[in-house]
Amino acid sequence: MDYRITVIPGDGIGPEIITEARKVLDAVGKKYGHGFKYTEVLMGGVSIDKTGVPLTEEALQTAKNSDAVLLGAVGGDVGQTNWYSLPPHLRPEAGLLAIRKGLNLFANIRPAVLFDELRGACPLKDEIIGDGFDFVVMRELTGGLYFGKRWTKEVDGLRTATDTLVYSEAEIERIARRAFDIARKRRKKVCSVDKANVLDSSRLWRQVTKVVAKAYPDVELTHMLVDNCAMQVVRDPGQFDVILTENMFGDILSDEASMVTGSIGMLASASLGETKLGLYEPSHGSAPDIAGQNKANPIATILSTAMMLRYSFDLDMEADKVEGAVKEVLRKGFRTIDIMSPGKTLVGTDKMGDLIALEIRRNEYGNDNDAEDSSCPHRT
Ligand code: IPM
Ligand code: MG
Repeated sequence: MDYRITVIPGDGIGPEIITEARKVLDAVGKKYGHGFKYTEVLMGGVSIDKTGVPLTEEALQTAKNSDAVLLGAVGGDVGQTNWYSLPPHLRPEAGLLAIRKGLNLFANIRPAVLFDELRGACPLKDEIIGDGFDFVVMRELTGGLYFGKRWTKEVDGLRTATDTLVYSEAEIERIARRAFDIARKRRKKVCSVDKANVLDSSRLWRQVTKVVAKAYPDVELTHMLVDNCAMQVVRDPGQFDVILTENMFGDILSDEASMVTGSIGMLASASLGETKLGLYEPSHGSAPDIAGQNKANPIATILSTAMMLRYSFDLDMEADKVEGAVKEVLRKGFRTIDIMSPGKTLVGTDKMGDLIALEIRRNEYGNDNDAEDSSCPHRT
């Protein structure tokens, strides 16, 4: 079957990691007989440079007309580009927010899994890691502080900035349902994270999640304050299955969650709405400091393509294959610089992509004829 994928390389390391993700998708397509048709569009700083805006209406339309969107990263170094002297709605990140909103992608799933092979890169002590951890952050993505009204004006002679945090019960209900649906397919635990001891929006969040929970008697719902959650993620990450939270808290907690997995370069993400159309991107940013140096870790983007195969195309077996190939390459000891540890083999962005694509192809033939590294043949 053919799938239309809108590809947005974006800025910084975006184009490099997208190249590797496409290699992997192409290997999957060849192996399983799927056609992935890519249409590249601009977003972020590159779009500002070429069109004057971070996301054109045409680019958004292309994304709307596709089956899935694959995104690298957007944004640059504040000191190095003039993108950040533009008004906020014309800066690179505004493109990202516009595509999330334009495609109504309200549910952002960011899995935090500790690969056994990366225990050494995990900054937590062995006794805290225990048997490892595997949880997802379900982040609300189109509401809250990110999309509330904001303004800066002079009040009593002082410049005063205001951001508003708005959630309706409908917005809370739909993301809560998503969290419970996912939990049902996992370990059946939802931890709803809020700041109900201070914020009205959090108090409503808590009330609505409790009501939604009634339709899921098989799933356990707990509530946790966000500051406590930030602590618990490093104290005992194994306690979590699905963390359900609002936009801003999810932004912060998902970065923290990624770090305990060893590197933010490992964390994939899927943003979903009411339809099958989803946007898949690594959780990390554009890392302009290492752009163009073949140092970026493409695994988060490659794992994002696995999520695309699973959630937008219902190709579960293919998704498993991609995840398996990543694990296998890690098991063989290949590492990008961010996850490097003594005794392992350091590789660049392109080589990491090659190895993962090779692992997928290798399985195709049941032998390692076209393998560069034949020291550890892998057969399925
Ligand atoms: C993320 C990023 C974005 C966000 C930025 C780039 C606007 O940090 O996807 O987590 O805050 O959502
Ligand atoms: Mg973030």
